[in-house]
Amino acid sequence: MSENRLSNRKPETGAFFQRDREWHPQGYTPWYKTSVLRSPQKALLSLDNTISEITGPVFGHNILGELDHDLIHNFAKPGESAIGPRIIVYGRVLDERGKGVPGALLEFWQANAGGRYRHKKEGYIAPLDPNFGGCGRTITDEDGGYAFRTIQPGPYPWPNGPNDWRPAHIHFSVFGHGFAQRLITQMYFEGDPLIPLCPIVKTINDPVAISDLTAVLDMGATKPMDSRAYKFDIVLRGRRSTLFENRMEGN
Ligand SMILES: [Fe+2]
Repeated sequence: MSENRLSNRKPETGAFFQRDREWHPQGYTPWYKTSVLRSPQKALLSLDNTISEITGPVFGHNILGELDHDLIHNFAKPGESAIGPRIIVYGRVLDERGKGVPGALLEFWQANAGGRYRHKKEGYIAPLDPNFGGCGRTITDEDGGYAFRTIQPGPYPWPNGPNDWRPAHIHFSVFGHGFAQRLITQMYFEGDPLIPLCPIVKTINDPVAISDLTAVLDMGATKPMDSRAYKFDIVLRGRRSTLFENRMEGN
């Protein structure tokens, strides 16, 4: 399904792609409380990147640890593993023409199966899992492909309205070939009833953009008696790019 969505997109052909202002959320969305103070109050300035910001660093596989792409085990005691539904998350990082982007550093972080983050400011009562740290990383291969193993995170409540819950999600950071090329987004899970209720998701105008942030169950890639698989492609640029939180309209 994810593949169909992407192949249905019109290919980008020009050298310059104008931002689609309907596609990206507005900076000021008061039902998402923190956007009120975070959105710009003044006209935007455009700053050019410096050479060092756009030429480095270049990431290589030598920076990765053996278990960096295995969140089930990378924080667990020897012989133990994280609690929760075991999943494989995989997909491709694509450019605006649907071509794979090799060598991109992907970092991901998430709550545990109970919806709890390992973070000192976390206030949710769900318990920590002693065998789950909640973050990992990998680098895309020659075709832009990536994969990692983890447990399916739980939804969690957050102090926005009186009773708001985040749908289950995994945060992603994508590094290109420079410090200025960092994009951050979130992946949701197909079929989660909390997706349409979420105030953050509600900042997105186009239902297709929401479905592009939603990983699809791929039974063909599951490991029988081990893990289900979810497929999530990330499109870096172009009129139908994945929505990135740090590149919202007006931010
Ligand atoms: Fe989160």
